[in-house]
Amino acid sequence: MSDAPAPQSAYVVDELVARDIDAYLDSHQHKTMLRFITCGSVDDGKSTLIGRLLYDSKMIFEDQLAALESDSRRQGTQGGEIDFALLVDGLAAEREQGITIDVAYRFFNTEKRKFIVADCPGHEQYTRNMVTGASTADLAVILIDARKGVLTQTRRHSYLCHLIGIRNIVLAVNKMDLVDYDQGTFDAIVADYTAFARSIGIETFTALPISGFKGDNITTRSPNMPWYAGPTLVEHLETVEVLSSVDADKPFRMPVQWVNRPHLDFRGFSGLIATGRVAVGDAVRVLPSGKTSTITRIVTLDGDLDRAVAGQSVTLCFADEIDCSRGDVIATADRPPQAADQFEATLVWLADDALRVGRGYWLKLATQTVSVTVQQPKYVVNVNTLEQLAAKTLDLNAIGVAELTTDRPIVFEPYDDNRTLGGFILIDKLTNATVAAGMLHFSLRRAQNVHWQAVDVGREAHAALKEQKPAVLWFTGLSGSGKSTIANLVEKKLHALGRHTFLLDGDNVRHGLNKDLGFTEADRIENIRRVGEVAKLMTDAGLIVLTAFISPFRAEREMVRAMLPQGEFVEVFVDTPFEEAERRDVKGLYKKARAGLLKNFTGIDSPYERPERPEVRIDTTAVSPEQAAERIVDLLLGERR
Ligand code: ADX
Repeated sequence: MSDAPAPQSAYVVDELVARDIDAYLDSHQHKTMLRFITCGSVDDGKSTLIGRLLYDSKMIFEDQLAALESDSRRQGTQGGEIDFALLVDGLAAEREQGITIDVAYRFFNTEKRKFIVADCPGHEQYTRNMVTGASTADLAVILIDARKGVLTQTRRHSYLCHLIGIRNIVLAVNKMDLVDYDQGTFDAIVADYTAFARSIGIETFTALPISGFKGDNITTRSPNMPWYAGPTLVEHLETVEVLSSVDADKPFRMPVQWVNRPHLDFRGFSGLIATGRVAVGDAVRVLPSGKTSTITRIVTLDGDLDRAVAGQSVTLCFADEIDCSRGDVIATADRPPQAADQFEATLVWLADDALRVGRGYWLKLATQTVSVTVQQPKYVVNVNTLEQLAAKTLDLNAIGVAELTTDRPIVFEPYDDNRTLGGFILIDKLTNATVAAGMLHFSLRRAQNVHWQAVDVGREAHAALKEQKPAVLWFTGLSGSGKSTIANLVEKKLHALGRHTFLLDGDNVRHGLNKDLGFTEADRIENIRRVGEVAKLMTDAGLIVLTAFISPFRAEREMVRAMLPQGEFVEVFVDTPFEEAERRDVKGLYKKARAGLLKNFTGIDSPYERPERPEVRIDTTAVSPEQAAERIVDLLLGERR
């Protein structure tokens, strides 16, 4: 026993598995795989249950077992029994705070199946982790302490699992040993849960009376509960139908991951089949183009196949040379999915920074990535009471329903029909962090009824007639920094040089087009979005546009930059230090804001994000407005003057 390895590493089953995972997967290739998640808190005996599953499936090395036994003794477990929780509670924080803080994936197998279990925390603030764990799961084990019955967290876990699309729910009523294996207690809990489950749309579930600690109804039928005639937990996990076999019966869809073109004689489209089956000779349609062809070959690493099914990675070859690239979806020709650019969706917010309504995020759905904006939520759901509440945004762990608009159509299906083509994530464009997970409900009809109208006199024609290159000179800086003054001088100079210009000024636009907007974050984002769109239209008309708006957020300035052709967006940072702008206080607004008479004032109680790489930076404490204007005109017209 004294030779046992250091205790910390002895319990880390993942480490062991990571080392052997390839060999493990190899030797079990023929078995089906079940991914499941366990939901519950430390008190429900979750770690003990998982530890027992690992122990009974012999996924522990002898030396670890020895360490486990000695450690269990040291901790004084009753009757010298093994404390299985020790095996799983590898995270120091969990031991210290009594909570599981991250999703841990563990692998084990039985004769019939291999399993990946996501161990998810029970605490409310960790909705994020639970959603992560649930997103790939076929089944959820909801743990209940038989002494406590259905709790708020049981409802929360069940709601989230159902929301994420898990249709196999196991209600594991644990710690039956502590209620004398009483059938009445079990039946009452099941009745209670049934009523709740119906109310949120869970149609069926499987209830099991167990004791993870004593091993009742885990791998062997419990002699202590002769009244229970159903399967053991392991039997159930081994035989329950997994999602991929259900997916196989849906229409064929494969998102294209990449185009495989090693030489001129071969062109194939590689991806993972999301749903359905495909066979050589099948008629297929490529979305969103709608072009059709016939499958000539199904190529895999192990050679060609005649047919393939959901869950397989394949390369498909077509009879015709039709366009098809990454992000497209190959589907059965007669039942293709739709494409749309406006949707209603459920969002689970995963980031510390709240949703910015109207801001551009990346939306990733299957192999498609597009820009998206989210509108103010229609409501958020209180995960404890399941009430729908009004909300202006989505904070960390919030779940809400909102409308989304993508910048181009995406191929999709409702999440309920297809998790691959209906599930997505949102990514912050500046930090690249994943900020939300989402589920599409349906497309909005207006998305299908508004089309882009082609016009014959385009932006080049407009610009050519004016004999100039359109541009947007985007002035940004604090209130009173001098944006309007300098922009005004620049416009006068350009005008005198015969250029066709237009100046959009914050204070003026807010009297008309944007008079419905105030100075909250969401309103400022919308202000800049509209101004960006107007500026873009004006460049389409051939103009040189000058804009003078605080435009305090980097993301929106970058959004406008991305709307315009390369080089047409010129960011001019009017860099006046805050103290200097306050000292000048041209409009007396700083004084008002200091007196508390003006809320959300930039630099006081609303942020200003300095440009990182502006095309021009004007230090107004070093140059006069006249000199600044001169410099900007030089830069814009360059040698063309
Ligand atoms: S932005 O932030 O949305 O870009 P915008 O440039 O349109 O702002 O408007 C700023 C102008 O509105 C300021 O120059 C100032 O005259 C006025 N203003 C009124 N209230 C505020 C406020 N709370 N914060 C900043 N500017 C304000």
